[in-house]
Amino acid sequence: MNPSLDPDARAALLEAQMTQDEKLRLVLGFFGVKGGSIFSRGAPPEYQAELRNTAGFIPGIPRLGIPSLVESDAGLGIANSANTRPGDEATALPSGLAMAATWNPDLIFQGGAALGAEARDRGYSVVLAGAMNLARDPRGGRTFEYAGEDPLLAGTIAGAEVAGVQSAHVISTVKHFALNDQETGRRELSAEIGEAEARESDLLAFEIAIERGAPGAVMCAYNRYNGVYSCENPFLLNEVLKRDWKYPGWVLSDWGAVHSTVESANSGLDQESASGFDRQLYFAAPLAQALADGSVAPARLDDMVHRILRTMFVRGLVDNPPTPRLSDIAGHLATAQLEAEDGIVLLRNEGALLPLTSHPRSIAVIGGHADIGVLSGGGSSQVMPIGHSLANEFPVGGPVIVLPGGARAMPLSGHVFDPYSPLVAIETAAPEAHIIYANGEDIAVAVSAAKNADVAIVFALQWMTEGSDVPNLSLPGTQNALIAAVAAANPRTIVVLETGGPVLMPWLANVPAVVEAWYAGNGGGDATANVLFGEVNPSGRLPITFPASEDQLPRPVLPGLDAHGAWFDVDYVEGADVGYRWFEKKNLVPLFPFGFGLSYGSFRIDGAQASGGATIAVSANVTNDGSVEGKETVEAYAVPPGPDEPARLIGWSKIDLAPGETHRVSITADPRLVAQFEVDRDRWHIAKGDYGVRVGTSSQSLGDMMHVTLDEQVLPP
Ligand code: BGC
Repeated sequence: MNPSLDPDARAALLEAQMTQDEKLRLVLGFFGVKGGSIFSRGAPPEYQAELRNTAGFIPGIPRLGIPSLVESDAGLGIANSANTRPGDEATALPSGLAMAATWNPDLIFQGGAALGAEARDRGYSVVLAGAMNLARDPRGGRTFEYAGEDPLLAGTIAGAEVAGVQSAHVISTVKHFALNDQETGRRELSAEIGEAEARESDLLAFEIAIERGAPGAVMCAYNRYNGVYSCENPFLLNEVLKRDWKYPGWVLSDWGAVHSTVESANSGLDQESASGFDRQLYFAAPLAQALADGSVAPARLDDMVHRILRTMFVRGLVDNPPTPRLSDIAGHLATAQLEAEDGIVLLRNEGALLPLTSHPRSIAVIGGHADIGVLSGGGSSQVMPIGHSLANEFPVGGPVIVLPGGARAMPLSGHVFDPYSPLVAIETAAPEAHIIYANGEDIAVAVSAAKNADVAIVFALQWMTEGSDVPNLSLPGTQNALIAAVAAANPRTIVVLETGGPVLMPWLANVPAVVEAWYAGNGGGDATANVLFGEVNPSGRLPITFPASEDQLPRPVLPGLDAHGAWFDVDYVEGADVGYRWFEKKNLVPLFPFGFGLSYGSFRIDGAQASGGATIAVSANVTNDGSVEGKETVEAYAVPPGPDEPARLIGWSKIDLAPGETHRVSITADPRLVAQFEVDRDRWHIAKGDYGVRVGTSSQSLGDMMHVTLDEQVLPP
């Protein structure tokens, strides 16, 4: 209890007092819901009273003052999946992809801090946030939870969220380590990709997030990587995470992701989470047996315990344990709205239809349950939002198709709509307009509403959930037909998309304005209206490529659809060239490129300069030469030497400029972004040579190529 000692020293003193039984207790987790559930053998009776109906629980050791760990899902707000804590509402943040679309790590830090505070104020100590698997397939059911397709963007955004969460003195994770990039067969698939390609893509994203966020724990994933389960994968856990990255925290398993005792313990797993989800107990008695017969060394158990205890000291859980109190919900809702506003992407705005500053006399608002709220994604990250009532659960346009081979269905039946309603926000923003709402189920009714209005706004939904991928990128049900019919009836039609990720837009040529609002959370209704009416100048940028068709994807057909529970491989033919890099390599023209997003203003980028040497540095002037204040994001991309190298994002700068204002932005690249990973020498290698550098406003609208020379350099892994 001497806070002047460092966390490692304190942990060591504590370990010296612990019996082997106590150590074994600290590395075994239980499902946090009282009595267990259909999914899980519950926690033993002696712990039932302490369970908080959250995702997980690790009993403390009162004799030594070690507090219990209460784990909650929380990437997008404090989750309350299936409403297991009736009435426990929390601030619903926008989806992870919406957060990534802000390209604004400072704001995402604030959202993380709000989330961390809501965890702490409930007495929770471990926040299972930081979901950040690379979006290798936009159909992936958790695309909405993750942070897009680029390692730098995903790592930066997830790292910022984690740092924010932990600023509230609770522990955060990053997850799911690693290559858990689709839901179909997530427990059966093996992600097949070479080490160099993995290090330069998915693993680099985690490396960046861990450097920036210093998460106390890393959650290993369900899937296998090159044939070996993530939670017993010595390459991922022992070599990459702990040896190369010198990660000092602990590795906890995903719920039901452990398959062995000796292999897991010796490969680097430090804690079996929610052990009732696993086929059998693997830590506890079997681990004691492995220690007794020498197949797991006592030092390994000590290392597991040390990692957990030192992290608890680092985060202040022992000195200053979380205690329940009321949260600053009003403040958190304001932050959630700022995130939503910063992440909304204006995709199309022909004839400057938006913003609606011309005071339309009548507006037809159509579809998407816009009278109720904004859609959210399903699964373990599901928040019961502030203002939630069961009336907010509806089926959306079309059946939810659970693909064969998908993980077991999540226990959430309804589709949760986060208050507050965009319809009400539109009514508030346009008090003089006559506003009609048509729910969109009857296309003829919607068409007649649109015909009689100055402007038609169609809200369209694509629901995504953990546990299954979407079958394709089309808006479900009759929504495409609805949009086409409304656009034919009213040339001033605006489509607001509330989607987990990219969707196809067969009606695009006939719809003058399209706004991608994602799953925008509790502040989403107001944020959307603020963008539509010009209170907010949109500044979000796509964190993921919107393909023109599924045929453009590296795997046009989702692997594993016919696996029916059998093991199968997912061949990552794109290697490290995920998303926009694949599109460039294959000369494919997407519907909307990575990094794209319009503004109501206009900006000019000029005077770009780039320098080389040890790394690439870029600077450029950005001028607001329009008439409205707004934020511009200057994106920098580099092309390494060699044939066939697509450009890679090396940095960006998002700045707010008043009309007429000019600012010079500077971006210095992390050299690993243009390096090759040399597997045989276990190092990054930056080749000497000519690197192309371009700046611009999306991966496809870039200024002239500049050339710099980089020195040869090697960096530790
Ligand atoms: C998910 C994790 C989540 C855990 C606990 C798993 O199904 O993959 O992201 O943290 O459940 O709810």
